[in-house]
Amino acid sequence: MILVTGATGRHGGTGAHVVRRLQEEGRDVRVLARTRSERTEALEELGVEVVIGDLRDRRSIAPALEGVDQAYFTYPIDAGVIPAAANFAAAARGSGTRVVVMSMGPAHPAHPSDRGRDQWLAEEVLQWAGLDVLVLRIAAAFHENVPALHGRSVAREGVLRNCFGDGGVSWINGRDAAELAVAALLHPERFAGPICYPRGAEELSHHEIAAILADHLGKPVRFEPVEPEQWRRELVALSTVEDVVNPDMAAHITEVAARVARHGSTTAADAQALRALIGREPMTFREYVRLI
Ligand SMILES: NC(=O)c1ccc[n+]([C@@H]2O[C@H](COP(=O)([O-])OP(=O)(O)OC[C@H]3O[C@@H](n4cnc5c(N)ncnc54)[C@H](OP(=O)(O)O)[C@@H]3O)[C@@H](O)[C@H]2O)c1
Repeated sequence: MILVTGATGRHGGTGAHVVRRLQEEGRDVRVLARTRSERTEALEELGVEVVIGDLRDRRSIAPALEGVDQAYFTYPIDAGVIPAAANFAAAARGSGTRVVVMSMGPAHPAHPSDRGRDQWLAEEVLQWAGLDVLVLRIAAAFHENVPALHGRSVAREGVLRNCFGDGGVSWINGRDAAELAVAALLHPERFAGPICYPRGAEELSHHEIAAILADHLGKPVRFEPVEPEQWRRELVALSTVEDVVNPDMAAHITEVAARVARHGSTTAADAQALRALIGREPMTFREYVRLI
């Protein structure tokens, strides 16, 4: 039995894709979800077992882990990942459960982003608990950030504004990040763990992202570089109307973007390496925009 957390996600939505793919591979899947919803009903219709629980409450995690030999652990870019990981570790400790963790390049003890440092510490906690952990620190931005962070301004003003600067950014689709997790669960021999840094599928600047959107939408779309504090404020305002955006994410993404603007993208995309890990052709941004 494989336990999947985060299967009701609406940002990268990696958990739901992991569930679907594991089912296709004939695996028994259980989901840990905070509440019942249309999303959990849809999962139950697929034959997935749903256990209601919260990573902030250790007592609710233990029943979800009964009979589980592997787990997929993901947490949104938001405050609270350290207690979530500590609760999960306390519940899973001694059970022999192998854990695949969805993470990000900025998970580092010295990263300027609070969320980057928290993610690193959360992963330390999982390892201190003696769990068999494989951490996927995806070294690329999700395509899904574009509609989440820029969808409104593109629709209303034909503009995407941020502080990434003019240079290239490495990109990956949430589906392919999920495919990495599926591969890590089913084909661990493909990964040199316990910490790995899978690369993105392609590099595109935000000018190129704007041009692809303009092509697709058939209207002008331009990229406007702005200062980090201006973008952070814009994202905090967006968080009041867009439920996948939150103020912690706003602070995190502006720190990450400002670093990319100053020093360039730290890890280059490598479609061939990604293809070898996931065993399929990675999605390009152009392909993604045709689907949304
Ligand atoms: N965005 C990027 O560019 C990027 C790049 C590289 C790596 N990543 C990594 O991707 C990860 C996020 O994955 P994702 O995009 O698939 O996530 P997501 O779509 O934001 O989904 C997050 C899930 O976590 C669940 N959740 C939140 N708090 C919980 C709690 N206390 N207990 C149980 N479940 C809880 C949510 O449930 P509800 O439905 O109840 O809210 C939701 O199902 C992050 O670790 C990030 O580092 C992201």
